[in-house]
Amino acid sequence: MSAALRELHDSLLSEEGGTLATYIPELARVDPALFGLALATLDGRVHAAGDADVPFTLQSISKPFVYARALADLGLEAVLSRVGAEPSGEAFNAISLEPGTGRPSNPMVNAGAILTTSLVSGDGPAARFERIRDTLSAFAGRRLELDEAVLASELETGDRNRALAYLMRNAGALRCEVDEALDVYFRQCALLATAEDVAVMAATLANGGVNPRTKEAVVPGPVAEHVLALMASCGMYDGAGEWLLRVGLPAKSGVSGGIVAVSPGQFGIGLFSPRLDVRGNSVRGVAASRVLAERFQLHLM
Ligand code: DON
Repeated sequence: MSAALRELHDSLLSEEGGTLATYIPELARVDPALFGLALATLDGRVHAAGDADVPFTLQSISKPFVYARALADLGLEAVLSRVGAEPSGEAFNAISLEPGTGRPSNPMVNAGAILTTSLVSGDGPAARFERIRDTLSAFAGRRLELDEAVLASELETGDRNRALAYLMRNAGALRCEVDEALDVYFRQCALLATAEDVAVMAATLANGGVNPRTKEAVVPGPVAEHVLALMASCGMYDGAGEWLLRVGLPAKSGVSGGIVAVSPGQFGIGLFSPRLDVRGNSVRGVAASRVLAERFQLHLM
């Protein structure tokens, strides 16, 4: 398996298309040539190739795992009443809100993720963030650190997310202060993980919420299933339909160039390469996913 990953890695090194995200200026300072792949099996083994041990900020990859925390804390019905489960067909930062109620269309777009973060139990933003960090760390099987420079960069430039939060607050959908919700959301996006970590996080979802390395039950099995359903329908934003057609796996991308993908009952995949396509998905990450899905017949349908 490791040899197959190395071969895939080498075969995609010549793919130099795509551009770095620049709207969070600190992300534009990353080495664009980085490329790491990792695959974590349910017996606890991790296979890796290339820069799979280089940390990057999780960004939107944090969203399904925070959604898992909120579902485990509140239950599906309570969460659904606040955040929808419909693919928006729109970009990650679109104003995907239900007319009138301001309820965001799903937890994978920024608006829905900001609202989901506000639902996590915790006495104030600091406690809520620590609970989120603990959860994501349990998914990864090690404590995840925060990239302070990326956090500061997003705090400086995150006005579009603030605008989304104000719209939701105005409609009565967001029930805490805008800055309180965003402080926690920006922090979760700035948590650092490697492709290997992401593969283990994915394998935990593939394994019904039990981390295959630490054996910790991070979330209940039905929660893991619900998260996978949302990743399948909404994880790749306005590219979700074509992704499901070509790759056929629940997945989530992030603007730092990471992709998490899950083969339920089989293994977790973590990919990292910072150059993005027009939809904000890693060019090499998408290409590698297509090859992996075809080669190992992972397509669920
Ligand atoms: O909120 C933002 O815009 C970023 N922190 C995360 C967005 C993101 O990763 C979109 N994914 N492709």
